[in-house]
Amino acid sequence: MERKMSRLPEAVLILGIETSCDETAAAVVENGSRILSSFVSSQVGLHARFGGVVPEIASRHHLELINEIVEQALAAAGAGLRDLHAVAVSNGPGLVGALLVGVASAKALAYAARLPLIAVNHLEAHLYANFLTGAGIKYPLVALIASGGHTALLLMPGPEEITLLGQTRDDAAGEAFDKVARVMGLGYPGGPVIDRLAGEGNPAGIDFPRAFLGEAGRFDFSFSGLKSAVINLLHHRRQTGEEIYLPDLAASFQAAVVEVLVEKTVDAAREHRAACVLLAGGVAANSFLRSRMRLRLAEAHPGLPLYFPPPALCTDNAPMVAAAAYPRYRRGEFAALDLNAVPNLGAGC
Ligand code: KG4
Ligand code: ZN
Repeated sequence: MERKMSRLPEAVLILGIETSCDETAAAVVENGSRILSSFVSSQVGLHARFGGVVPEIASRHHLELINEIVEQALAAAGAGLRDLHAVAVSNGPGLVGALLVGVASAKALAYAARLPLIAVNHLEAHLYANFLTGAGIKYPLVALIASGGHTALLLMPGPEEITLLGQTRDDAAGEAFDKVARVMGLGYPGGPVIDRLAGEGNPAGIDFPRAFLGEAGRFDFSFSGLKSAVINLLHHRRQTGEEIYLPDLAASFQAAVVEVLVEKTVDAAREHRAACVLLAGGVAANSFLRSRMRLRLAEAHPGLPLYFPPPALCTDNAPMVAAAAYPRYRRGEFAALDLNAVPNLGAGC
């Protein structure tokens, strides 16, 4: 639905709502860049004993929390519904039951307060987390989005244009971290634990496979072979009673994931003559990824700026949803009240 804004208000306040996986989040953001409030309730503790997110539990807890989180976000921003200019929500990709809670809540608020409703692609939202940090973003830009559910390389030739260069063919990078950590007995979520443990290990200790996928898949990813290689090695060593030094295993696995993420991003930046590179998504919080990306970009493209959000804006959050909604608000690109959750919504918007 397109509704042209005759004149934009000076301060556009957007309420963002995020429930695509296991974080219930709401935030108020001004003009797509200034965070007035941000609340996240993570369910990590609830899912930890299952070693991963249980969709049914996630949706039930979103339902219990969503109203309170929205109220807190409004109160902390010092805003009532009538001060808002729009309500934005991630409507995909994600877990359908989880997404539906955010979508229903956003629709109800928009209807009750007669506000425009804005549907946001969750992957696009991760990218827009970088617009909340005051970074000097320039175009064209290449963005690597790596999270628990997705791994994608996106190109923004100019403001508000996004194309998909490539994505994972199987597991997402964060999913590989989580599954490997589970088999290593490190708990959930695996990324932060492996990140810490890897700091004590040798990244060249074990030679794990890296899937570069040839010319046709040069910007695509695949992590399932690596994941199986780690799991097979662990099982084999356990069966034969051989000792395995877990920090070396963590560091070597992490190095294999990071090398593929980094080299493909460096290649995409060259091919598309990027003026800056962005990282986003939960895996962008990884310390080895950040340092390797910085190093390799400096070697391959001296002077090319690299930006990534602080860890709290890498993992799922609501300010990124409101930030991604802002250009849509300016274009008058609003969703109708029959908006639905789209669990497999693709990137490339
Ligand atoms: O973006 P996010 O909160 O949720 C999705 O949209 O999927 O990402 C969560 C993922 C999990 O797989 C988690 O293990 C991973 O991000 N993660 C990390 C780190 N912190 C979170 N992976 C590697 N290193 C980290 N420091
Ligand atoms: Zn996410």
